[in-house]
Amino acid sequence: MKNIAVIGTGYVGLVSGAGISDFGHYVTCVDIIDSKITLLKKGQIPIYEPELKELVNRNVRAGRLNFTTKIEKTIKNSDVIFIAVGTPEGENGLADISAVEDVARTIGKNLSDYKVICTKSTVPIGTGEKICKIIDDAMLKPIKYDYVSNPEFLREGSAVNDFLRPDRVIIGVNSYKAFDIMKKVYSPLFINETPILHTNVATAEMIKYASNAFLALKISYVNEIANLCEEVGADIHQVTKAMGQDGRISKKFLHPGPGYGGSCFPKDTNAIASLSIEKSVKMHTVLAAIKTNNKQKLRMINKLDSLINGFNQKNIAILGLAFKPNTDDVRESASIDMIDGIIKGGGHVMAYDPIANDSMKKYFSNITYFDSWEDACSDVDAVVIMTEWNEFRAMDLKKLKSIMKSPFILDTRNILSISLLKKLNFKYDNVGRT
Ligand code: UGA
Repeated sequence: MKNIAVIGTGYVGLVSGAGISDFGHYVTCVDIIDSKITLLKKGQIPIYEPELKELVNRNVRAGRLNFTTKIEKTIKNSDVIFIAVGTPEGENGLADISAVEDVARTIGKNLSDYKVICTKSTVPIGTGEKICKIIDDAMLKPIKYDYVSNPEFLREGSAVNDFLRPDRVIIGVNSYKAFDIMKKVYSPLFINETPILHTNVATAEMIKYASNAFLALKISYVNEIANLCEEVGADIHQVTKAMGQDGRISKKFLHPGPGYGGSCFPKDTNAIASLSIEKSVKMHTVLAAIKTNNKQKLRMINKLDSLINGFNQKNIAILGLAFKPNTDDVRESASIDMIDGIIKGGGHVMAYDPIANDSMKKYFSNITYFDSWEDACSDVDAVVIMTEWNEFRAMDLKKLKSIMKSPFILDTRNILSISLLKKLNFKYDNVGRT
């Protein structure tokens, strides 16, 4: 049993802290934001993530998980310290690691004996060395510690499952002692034979970016194939189904759509592309994936424009605002571009998302939000599906048609039955389907 500190109670820190306590360790989650810690102490979760509340409360009740703002004391009492603060995109396309640097400084100042210091935040390749230098400079007297890079592969909406049942765990560290300690942190997974890879720090940092950029690339590729399908009369679903049966390709992340969003792929592809340029080994593939993604978002606006012959004075329902289902996160969501395009074209937006309405209000306060798809679609000139929430998959299309003013529908996630749309005489479009 280890004493663990997790600094940062955002999406990564909170899921990781609660997950590690579920593995049987004593975890203290620290944050500088008082209001967040107060909420967490009351058993409330500041973010929307399925199963997280149960995981947190179960471990709080078992006495293995607690929350505090007292960073110095927590550092002193811990064997392993996880840095899990935010690394938003900076002005130059590279990640802004100032919060990580601040935490490293505080850790350095408060080191009293040997500890493992581990970064979970997604940081640019090469940051490990920088963090060690900051810790060394901040230390009051020389104390031995080991630095580990332990990137996360959590998806919003299924982060709890991803943490408790990962495909692999990456431990980047140049010390066997620290590797053994980290193996103990993840011991239930080790027993379950989850691959635990020991690498050096730079390799671990690279694995995170290489994985995210590859998935982004895969999505942009499939979106381009879908666009080409439209021109040649092929069906993207049959194409990807057949492609996915090839074990070398795999069926995952082959769903075409309006372009990827979220807080990770757009930021991480920009970061690795910028790094490649800085290091004079320009990654043309990643740069192309970024360009394709931006174009895909615009393509959806143009599709709608052609389908309904302009936006001016039209009422358009947007179903789904989150960048993917099961989250209230709208960062870099294709819905933002779509709403922006409609407003610029003189149209009016009727928006509905099962949980992300409030998040979108920070971007657009001047559109109308509704509490159900029925209300949002009432008397509209067109409906656009932007997020594949289950409730949209199950929509009664007959009822939908009866409440709309005109039967135009753009399904950017390909979740509606084409035969039913045809049967009901909808005028529709989608991504890559005949
Ligand atoms: C992504 C990675 O999948 C995680 O492994 C990683 O840990 C995380 O970033 C991170 O770096 O923190 P996330 O952004 O939560 O996770 O969500 P994804 O499920 O990967 O979806 C990202 C975007 O790609 C969404 O907009 C989604 O709609 C889109 N997407 C995904 C597609 O358009 N097609 C697909 O086939 C899959």
